[in-house]
Amino acid sequence: MPDRFDLPAGFRWGAATAAYQIEGAVTEDGRGPSVWDTFAARPGAVRDGHTGAVACDHYHRHPEDIALMRGLGLDGYRFSVAWTRVLPTGSGAVNAAGLAFYDRLVDALLEAGITPLPTLFHWDLPQGLEDGGGWLNRDTAYRFAEYAGIVADRLGDRVPAWITLNEPFVHTVFGYALGTHAPGRTLMFEALPAAHHQLLGHGLAAAVLHDRGLDVMLSNNLTPVEPASPAPADVAAAEAYDALHNRVFTDPVLLGRYPGLAALGVPDDLYGAVRPGDLDLIHTPGLDGLGLNFYNPTRIAAPTGPGGLPFDFAEWPDAPRTAFGWPVVPEALTRLLLSLRDTYGKALPPLTITENGCSVDESTTPDQPRIDFMSAHLDALAHATTEGIDVRGYYAWSLLDNFEWAEGYHQRFGLVHVDFATCERTPRASYGWYRDLIAAHRAKRAVR
Ligand code: BGC
Repeated sequence: MPDRFDLPAGFRWGAATAAYQIEGAVTEDGRGPSVWDTFAARPGAVRDGHTGAVACDHYHRHPEDIALMRGLGLDGYRFSVAWTRVLPTGSGAVNAAGLAFYDRLVDALLEAGITPLPTLFHWDLPQGLEDGGGWLNRDTAYRFAEYAGIVADRLGDRVPAWITLNEPFVHTVFGYALGTHAPGRTLMFEALPAAHHQLLGHGLAAAVLHDRGLDVMLSNNLTPVEPASPAPADVAAAEAYDALHNRVFTDPVLLGRYPGLAALGVPDDLYGAVRPGDLDLIHTPGLDGLGLNFYNPTRIAAPTGPGGLPFDFAEWPDAPRTAFGWPVVPEALTRLLLSLRDTYGKALPPLTITENGCSVDESTTPDQPRIDFMSAHLDALAHATTEGIDVRGYYAWSLLDNFEWAEGYHQRFGLVHVDFATCERTPRASYGWYRDLIAAHRAKRAVR
């Protein structure tokens, strides 16, 4: 069986984070409020009332964090830019002090020999735009493209590749359909216009970035969907869920069309959001790379009763679980990568794993489950590359323990432990394991 040392020469090793999850300093240097500041302040919205107000205090401690990255020997660091540091209300006058933070960050990364990979939107929409409807308002897509241009004009001379959106599926479903994430709306399928406007924003921003000679990626949380049984009703439910979770967010970008959603009772124009010409705007700029955030596969059954959703989530049998309760099924990553080639063929751009990792319950276990999780997923990735899938890099989620959205500080995904009372960082066993793996892979591939 292929293993992680079979990953190609030149494979890029990285780690990932996101602004609201690590930066803190939410009122500093002119930063405006985002939907996550508002949502986290709502009683009961986040476990134990945690907020990102301080988080890992990365805003002040980034030199220490870059030293940790250098210690790992990373090729790349994926972080996100907080829109509200650059444009405190989402549009209008640029906040020079906010933009200067990312300028310093990029310079310090380059100085450490690490390529910055920024994500322009990782869920922290300016509250000023949310007040006008957020991603339900088509205008937000145009504001996003303006913001992309402003950041690219400042950093594009040193940053070659950019990710527009992080996981529009999760943002749409948790933020707009179920209300468990900011902005906390509960629109169910009628949340889909928010998905379309994010994709439109992606297309408009991609054109802006390409005009400046920059590479563009999009990071999706993709999951291989398997029916709970071969029964036709389970298979049909799984296909409907696959369309909603995976294809709505990938087909428009790679193929220029939405998958049919009739099985979900959703109209083709996504409740009037899709206007003539939109799919060209989303598709035509093209993608230089597709980012994949992979955590677990999904098992779907037909619904058991009338009304409700047209699918049910089924348990994944016989799989170990992360502290979050997610099933650990590394070979599902190989299946996902092979199925992307089957589905998209020549339209599939080179792939990068832009997130992969797991939360570990420290009160009961040492760090070994994280090492086991990452090494098994890297082996699964190597398996896919030996089958001819073009995967260029892997970004561990996450460099640091951080604000895990609705779970607050309860789920720990870091290669580095963070004491949230003092912000002290302590590398875990997985940090040393990843450092040694990166060095060993480089040495082995260099001599071949
Ligand atoms: C997100 C991260 C998150 C991670 C673990 C991904 O969905 O992009 O922000 O922390 O999963 O839940």
